Amino acid sequence: MILLGIESSCDETGVAVLKADSTTNTLTILSNSLSSSLSLHAATGGIIPEVAAREQLKYMPQVLKDALSTLDKNEENAVKKVDAIAVTYGPGLIGSLLVGVETARTLSYLYDIPLIPVNHMLGHIYANWIQTGDKRHSISDPKFPALALVVSGGHTDLVVLKGHGDYAVLGGTRDDAAGEAFDKIGRLLNLPYPAGPVIATLAKKGDPKAFRFPRPMWDSKDYNFSFSGLKTAVLNEVRKSKKLSTTEISNICASTERAITDVLVKKTILAATEYKVKSILLGGGVAANESLQASLKAAMAARLPGTMLFIPPKELCTDNAAMVAAAGYFLNDKVSWKTVSPNPELYY
Ligand code: KG4
Ligand code: ZN
Repeated sequence: MILLGIESSCDETGVAVLKADSTTNTLTILSNSLSSSLSLHAATGGIIPEVAAREQLKYMPQVLKDALSTLDKNEENAVKKVDAIAVTYGPGLIGSLLVGVETARTLSYLYDIPLIPVNHMLGHIYANWIQTGDKRHSISDPKFPALALVVSGGHTDLVVLKGHGDYAVLGGTRDDAAGEAFDKIGRLLNLPYPAGPVIATLAKKGDPKAFRFPRPMWDSKDYNFSFSGLKTAVLNEVRKSKKLSTTEISNICASTERAITDVLVKKTILAATEYKVKSILLGGGVAANESLQASLKAAMAARLPGTMLFIPPKELCTDNAAMVAAAGYFLNDKVSWKTVSPNPELYY
């Protein structure tokens, strides 16, 4: 089965072609094209929705063409090989979402291809089922029940999955998401946007114990998160000094990363224990953070030795269309193109 995935919820324009092979039990990427307006937003220190939407419109035709070329050099022949189209319909920015949704609807209508609307957040989770040349060879490797920690620029969610499409959200952020906290703290430190990867790099040179930043909701008996207090604590440190030294900046980065990681790992282990999960799945841009990955691995080795950990490769942690196609394959909720419209506020 050939799936076409389309992702345009924010500032990334992605189109991917995935092959699902029931004989070999594999889900592999044939193409995963991506264009990003990130550099434009770096200049403004954050995303301007109107700018992101215009860039989506500009990029989509070429990204679509590039992705399809893996099936056939002739675009029409290539589209005819597609068995289903999976498209992100929310959550996200309305203008950006519209570009992907209208592209998918048009292809579905013109070529009579079934359309599967996909929740972007589930896409992040389903990135874990894609075979990418590492040791995982089977799509039945992540075992249920599974716990997903989805950590992106807009979300910090713990989701328990009993089976494909059978899930419940255990908790989420009360204010800033983990990625948003990295980005806002980066802004306080005059670091480029998105600051998550920059803070991660600087943190390697810093001392994570230099500042004891708050671990918000550490003792709350739920699976919710809050990161806005952390941002205020960093702001207070920044205000104390006229000009921060390179060492101080690295120390703030390391201490910030440690504070965010500690809370994420603690609540993930708690939830995994309570729900007796067989797998833990990471997803979203912050899942690319090496310190988070290492801390979670260490905590699991100590507390949950029988539980498997799945982490998508970096390029599948951040927004991409392959994850959307993967979610579409497993959820397989085919609908008429007439019924699909963007839902910027979509929850789970
Ligand atoms: O999933 P994603 O690409 O887009 C959203 O759906 O939001 O996540 C983007 C977020 C940004 O906030 C970025 O700073 C953060 O992921 N991020 C990281 C790292 N790489 C990306 N945060 C911490 N460490 C990283 N290595
Ligand atoms: Zn995302």
